[in-house]
Amino acid sequence: MNCDSIILIGPMGSGKSTIGRLLSSRLGLTFIDSDREIEARSGANIPWIFDLEGEAGFRDRETAVLAELVEEGQQVIATGGGAIIRPENRELLKSKGQVVYLQTSVEQQLVRTAKDKNRPLLRGPDPEGTLRRLAAERRPYYEATAHLTINTNGLSPRTVVREIIKQLNLKP
Ligand code: S3P
Repeated sequence: MNCDSIILIGPMGSGKSTIGRLLSSRLGLTFIDSDREIEARSGANIPWIFDLEGEAGFRDRETAVLAELVEEGQQVIATGGGAIIRPENRELLKSKGQVVYLQTSVEQQLVRTAKDKNRPLLRGPDPEGTLRRLAAERRPYYEATAHLTINTNGLSPRTVVREIIKQLNLKP
């Protein structure tokens, strides 16, 4: 049996948390969301961390948390959308788990992030422009890190989970 963790990557609003939770319950594994873990460890929410420490401070915390989570045994890990920016994170994730990239259109991302106030990068006047810019910058990193890519556009979370289980040959 394969004992790697399953690590979900993809942009904001690609459904990493929803799909991760569902996948973990189908597989009987623990689910962990790296953003929630960063918040729990720092005692502050993500917008606060960005305000106080800047994006660089948040990225340092993210790298440290990811390095710990991948050593905790087999689980389903949802990462933040920018977890693949740093080369050392890409190496780490790729070597420590089966990495699934949830590919999503900017249109879908906009719908899923519309009411959210917890994403500092989308606080500006042009969230759509920001999402398009980030997608162009980060797409090569997602692709370079993933073992499996699933296009989630128009698919329900249950369908995406079924597809991951099938393609990774996992035993529910
Ligand atoms: C970020 C995505 C967020 C969170 C932080 C930065 C990014 O996670 O880590 O706001 O750089 O794309 P989600 O992808 O879960 O929204």
